[in-house]
Amino acid sequence: MKIIGVDLGGTYVKIGLVDTKSGKILKKSSIETKVHLGGETVVKRIADAILELSNGDFHAVGIGSPGSIDKDNGIVRFSPNFPDWHNFELGPELLKLLNKKVYIENDANSFVLGEKWFGAGKGKKHIVALTLGTGVGGGVISHNKLITGNNGIGTELGHVIINPNGPLCGCGNYGCLEAYASATAIVRMAQERKKKYPDSLIFKDNEITAKSIFDLAKQNDRLANMIKDEVVEALAIGITSFIHIFNPEVIIIGGGVSRAGDILFNPLKKRVDELVMPSFKNTYEIIQSPLVENAGILGAASIVLQRES
Ligand code: BGC
Ligand code: NA
Ligand code: ZN
Repeated sequence: MKIIGVDLGGTYVKIGLVDTKSGKILKKSSIETKVHLGGETVVKRIADAILELSNGDFHAVGIGSPGSIDKDNGIVRFSPNFPDWHNFELGPELLKLLNKKVYIENDANSFVLGEKWFGAGKGKKHIVALTLGTGVGGGVISHNKLITGNNGIGTELGHVIINPNGPLCGCGNYGCLEAYASATAIVRMAQERKKKYPDSLIFKDNEITAKSIFDLAKQNDRLANMIKDEVVEALAIGITSFIHIFNPEVIIIGGGVSRAGDILFNPLKKRVDELVMPSFKNTYEIIQSPLVENAGILGAASIVLQRES
């Protein structure tokens, strides 16, 4: 079966034609988006791109979008990437243009579905997933079902408060996991300490990114290491709680920050092992997402598979 997966990011909307049997993306394209683009414009561009990729030869469309999604009605209630959209009827609008079924989910929920259908969650019934990107997203599968809560907006694991005296989060609260472990937070942590650590190699680069900071941690830059330790501690506190709440078989971590690899995962695994209650020891694995840059599109396509299964 062929399914279209749409990953509604803030700078790019990525669109792919997925062959669900092989889990391969047959064709993909991306559209540059600007925050001020209205919903109608974005929908029109998405529809055009889908038709160009597929000639209309596909079964349905799955869309992963950050923020709060009314999945029953296909409405984006609020998206941090498109702050002008309020209760935008994304699903119904796209249906009008394509005349195919359209399913929408929170982007991190679709990430966990993608891992279940095509990635490290295959054959698992209890999965916790985190995406570490511009924001921190969470998705949970329990007893094979995606947990979404009463309004479909649950499992916002990135907004679990781990320190009420911590830094301001994009959501308006203080000390959310996202305020420590998102790419945005990691860059902010460096910038805030520029005065105190002017000699850090972090500031030699013209562009400071989460990737450049983790690369410098590998080279033992003092500030880069401090930041890495804080990210690890915050993630370990959050993940330990998620393990205690959901008792998952795996915790799968994706998003740009996860690509730091061992320098992040080794200390993280060690710290979570120290923090979990004894009865939870060795009940879980912490895994880096194997889907890498395809996670968004495959996740979005998996929304269709999950809803129709
Ligand atoms: C949003 C989530 C989203 C995550 C990852 C967070 O800031 O609140 O809805 O899943 O970012 O994009
Ligand atoms: Na979620
Ligand atoms: Zn928050």
